[in-house]
Amino acid sequence: MQAELQALQAEALEALSGARTSEELAAWRTRFLGRRGALTQLMRRVGQVPPEERPVVGRLANEIKQALEAAYRERAEAIRRAELEETLRRDAVDVTLPGLPHPVGRLHPSTQTLREIERIFAELGFQVYRARDVELDEFNFQLLNIPPGHPARDMQDTFYVATDSNGREEGEQVLLRTHTSPGQIHAMREFAAMNPADPPPVRIILPGMCYRHEQITPRSEIQFHQVEGLAVGRHITMADLKGTVEYFVRRMFGAERRLRFRASHFPFTEPSAEVDMDCLLCRGAGCRICKQTGWLEIMGCGMVHPTVLRNGGYDPERYTGFAFGMGPERITMLKYGIEDIRSFWQNDLRFLEQFG
Ligand code: PHE
Repeated sequence: MQAELQALQAEALEALSGARTSEELAAWRTRFLGRRGALTQLMRRVGQVPPEERPVVGRLANEIKQALEAAYRERAEAIRRAELEETLRRDAVDVTLPGLPHPVGRLHPSTQTLREIERIFAELGFQVYRARDVELDEFNFQLLNIPPGHPARDMQDTFYVATDSNGREEGEQVLLRTHTSPGQIHAMREFAAMNPADPPPVRIILPGMCYRHEQITPRSEIQFHQVEGLAVGRHITMADLKGTVEYFVRRMFGAERRLRFRASHFPFTEPSAEVDMDCLLCRGAGCRICKQTGWLEIMGCGMVHPTVLRNGGYDPERYTGFAFGMGPERITMLKYGIEDIRSFWQNDLRFLEQFG
């Protein structure tokens, strides 16, 4: 019996030194010290030992039990510490690592320019009026004095919405607007409807996406924004147009900007003009950006054609008005020296992240 106890002690200590994890340690404890463990079972047999040997055997058994429990506690502490070390090592935070960049959203450069334009015109009392992207030929062309077959249509190659164009005459077709000017008609009709006998004055800008069936090149895209402006009222003159445009350009590009109004032609304005400002880069001396002319073309404009006023519900005998249209992408390109208009809708973050 004593030999069995000592053998068990040796076996238990040997096994204990092999326990590396807290799971292995728990298994060891069950195996030797548990209720059905080897030592417990051996100790149950002490009662069967002859009475004279029992005190010696009993003491030995108890000593071994205490020795194993002490060894267990010591091993448990060692394993706990080792496991803690391991966790600390594995989950260590390297405070010298650079932080993870936190991506911050920003507005598209075109949106930023549009908002700046809207802010400046708001100072002059112009409200934002949103018109539809999908138009009828009637509004995009005919009511603006561009009948079917008119040569001005050649300058605005058009996307027709195929499902709706079946069997329709040219003038009835559904299309994507090629400019924001059809919004003039919608706006005037809405304003005029408030009081048809004496329509209220109009002072609005119409920002929006336009579409043209063009070849995509660094200089032309199939989609682009325009901002249309429209003022209708009594006694509005070309001087009001010039003053408004001048205010806008100087707020947008700098108080020192010089302007030039060049005679031009649009079917929906009369007279018509194109507006140039002195080149931002060379200030008029001539450079690569302004193609050596010293001037940058920034918008088309004119006095609203009497036919267009009438189509909008405003009697041209009593009302006059001016309109202008500009391309914010072009303005953004001038402002930041962007050379390729395709950058705007390619969604390349390396481009977009530079703004904001
Ligand atoms: N709609 C014209 C264009 O797209 C611009 C314009 C608007 C010209 C209003 C005059 C008046 O080119």
